[in-house]
Amino acid sequence: MKATDALSSLHDANIAYLEQALSEAQAEITALKQARDQESRERRRIEHDLKTSQQRLQLVMDTLPESIFWKDQDLVYLGCNQNFVQDAGLNSPHDIVGKTDFDLPWKREEAEFYRTCDRRVMQSNQAEMGIIEPQLKGDGQQTWLETNKAPLHNVQGDVIGILGTYQDITARQQAEMALQELNETLSQQTVELTSTLEQLQQSQLQLIQQEKMSALGNLVAGIAHEINNPVGFLAGNLQPAQAYIQDLFGLLDLYQAALPSPGEVIEDEIDAINLAYLREDLPQVLRSMREGIKRIGSISTSLRTFSRADTEHRIPFKLHEGLDSTLLILEHRLKADEHRPAIQVSTHYREMPAIECFPGQLNQVFMNLLANAIDALEESNRGQSFDDIQAQPNHITVTAELSACQQWAVVKVRDNGVGMTAETQAKIFENLFTTKGVGQGTGLGLAIARQIVVEKHQGTLEVHSTLGQGSEFVLKIPAIAPELIES
Ligand SMILES: Nc1ncnc2c1ncn2[C@@H]1O[C@H](COP(=O)(O)OP(=O)(O)O)[C@@H](O)[C@H]1O
Ligand SMILES: [Mg+2]
Repeated sequence: MKATDALSSLHDANIAYLEQALSEAQAEITALKQARDQESRERRRIEHDLKTSQQRLQLVMDTLPESIFWKDQDLVYLGCNQNFVQDAGLNSPHDIVGKTDFDLPWKREEAEFYRTCDRRVMQSNQAEMGIIEPQLKGDGQQTWLETNKAPLHNVQGDVIGILGTYQDITARQQAEMALQELNETLSQQTVELTSTLEQLQQSQLQLIQQEKMSALGNLVAGIAHEINNPVGFLAGNLQPAQAYIQDLFGLLDLYQAALPSPGEVIEDEIDAINLAYLREDLPQVLRSMREGIKRIGSISTSLRTFSRADTEHRIPFKLHEGLDSTLLILEHRLKADEHRPAIQVSTHYREMPAIECFPGQLNQVFMNLLANAIDALEESNRGQSFDDIQAQPNHITVTAELSACQQWAVVKVRDNGVGMTAETQAKIFENLFTTKGVGQGTGLGLAIARQIVVEKHQGTLEVHSTLGQGSEFVLKIPAIAPELIES
């Protein structure tokens, strides 16, 4: 074979080989192209599906009544629904991406509060429900939200952010707040009404009592006045009567001297009337009549002092006179009887000016305190014999003096009667509180006394008592001029 032939056949073989390789390569390229087309179709389909499902998700989220948002671990917003877009004053959900709460319309303290909650939820990996929080919206409205927050996880279960949903509960919150306000107003009003009612009851009681006292006062004053006239006649006529009797006795002496034997009829009569004794006793009789008249006179004065009608204004009053007249009126309760000796009363009155006050009402207070003291003594006498009581006599001490600072007139009424427990002491000034039986106690005395002293006279009324030993009531009223008190 010639060399050229050999070369030519080699060349041909090469070409065939190359052609073969080329066509193989082309086939491979075609296959690859097909595969790539297939893949890109597949990708487009997936992308389309993804987009469709995202749109559907967005649609779902936009249809829900809640506002929805989610943030990454650094509290940067990743997405939200349409409601949230509106609240945040944005145009579309895309606008939220990359923002934080500080870029949104809420107040700074609101933003900080939200972020604190977010961090807490992520750190604890625990959802929080029903967080009530305020929100200043994009349209300038201040609202209240009820928010739920839950941590978001990746496939490994690590926390990678937070999902939040909330509802606007402003209307509900406002209604609740209005209700609460209403409740507060109502309970306030109830308190006011209750106290008004109590005051009304108090003043009603006082009115009734005052009415009774003033009716009684008028009666007593009337009687005292009526007694005064006849007592005056008696006192006025006793003196001349004594002189006339003296004269008559003188005349009798003269007759006896001139006619030592007046005859049987007259001598019998002298024996019958026991003339010697009569002459001796008559001055005695007249003296005790004078005593009686004096006593009626002082009772009448006391009655008038006690029943002094009160005026609109305070008037000067000597407190010890009020105390004495009250004691005199209570005399019948102090006297001895078959069960017990007389109740001993000691009075200690210090030098004191007349006090500007409402005397009729103060006398009523003295009466209540003294009557209570007598009741307490009688209670303590129960089961005791006359001799037992005599050994430990019933005693009432009444003191009236000025306080050391001279600002107060102080009256103390002390007894050694039954005394009181602390529980009783806490209640004695309440209306209708009584420990006495029906018909014996009304429970009004001290309630009225307190009102007269505290409200009418701007004073104080205190009690000190030990059960089984006795009680002391201390009454203080201002001893300064009323113009100064009332201004
Ligand atoms: N001097 C006292 N000693 C013991 N208890 C007293 C005394 N004064 C008042 N109390 C108690 O206070 C209660 C209320 O007194 P008060 O208001 O005068 O009503 P009343 O005398 O009608 O019971 C009495 O029932 C009695 O229990
Ligand atoms: Mg009483």
